Amino acid sequence: MDFLKKNIDKIVGIGAFLILALFSFRVVLFLTFSPPEENSFMATAYEGLGIEAAPVVDRPVEHPRQMEWSFDGRFGHFDKAAVRRGLQVYREVCSACHSLDLIAFRNLTEIGYSVGAAKAIAASYQITAGPDRFGDMYERPGILADTFPAPFDNPAAAAISNGGKAPPDLSLMAKARADGPNYIHSLLTGYVDAPVDFVPNSDTTTYNPYFDTWEIVMPPPLFDGFVEYEDGTEASVEQMSKDVTNFLMWTAEPNLEARLTMGFSVVLYSLVLTLLLFLSMKTIWRRLKP
Ligand code: HEC
Repeated sequence: MDFLKKNIDKIVGIGAFLILALFSFRVVLFLTFSPPEENSFMATAYEGLGIEAAPVVDRPVEHPRQMEWSFDGRFGHFDKAAVRRGLQVYREVCSACHSLDLIAFRNLTEIGYSVGAAKAIAASYQITAGPDRFGDMYERPGILADTFPAPFDNPAAAAISNGGKAPPDLSLMAKARADGPNYIHSLLTGYVDAPVDFVPNSDTTTYNPYFDTWEIVMPPPLFDGFVEYEDGTEASVEQMSKDVTNFLMWTAEPNLEARLTMGFSVVLYSLVLTLLLFLSMKTIWRRLKP
């Protein structure tokens, strides 16, 4: 008993050390885990520790190409001209398959269109509205309050027209995927010839190493010169992909600039406040000194 009492701190210390060591060992094993050969000593050891073998990934996705974007960083901003070109790419290419549910035509005034121009874009779409007083739905030209109409009536209809996969809504795509803008740009420009020994799992897919399992149902959507830019920019695949990525970043986070400016002002404000508080503390405590 005496021994226990005297050495209790050492015992607790050693116990804690052992638990920590075991825990770290598990973490290291977990992080560096590669499936051991069957029936080997390590296989038994892993099994004893209750670690399951991770499935072997034979098609690791390609890391997105890292681009420089105007909206990156603390002082990021949107390149409005690129965003407008991106809108054109969306309207003329992507909108055949992808909806953009969260963007209303009035939002277009935020990227440099006048109200009149936004109205004209809205009116170029036919929107299903209603029901009227007879209970019927009807078509009418779009107004500023409408959102971009979806190309398909529902996800099932979208899937049946697209090799079994419904094209996802693009409004928030730039935020929904890790490293969104770089991913979208890499995906759109990443259609290359499949390696000769590549065996696709499905015949409705196209090879694209940036997509999970390297097989995507979306056929290559962009080709050089596919759109004719109003501002005369050359419409290469790289350029259109960059522009539509700028556009999708704007649809996903239209208030990015306001957020960054606000962050900067808050930091500045806090610095000034800290200085003022420090000075007032100095003044007050000077008076209280003996
Ligand atoms: C012919 C129809 C079609 C067109 C045109 C098209 N897409 Fe797609 N897109 C699809 C389909 C189908 C999928 C779903 C693919 C899958 O899950 O295999 C998809 C998926 C995507 C994805 C999501 C990939 C992911 O990680 O889930 C993005 C981003 C995308 N498309 C962007 C675009 C952009 C930008 C354009 C315009 C330049 C465009 N698409 C044009 C059919 C299309």
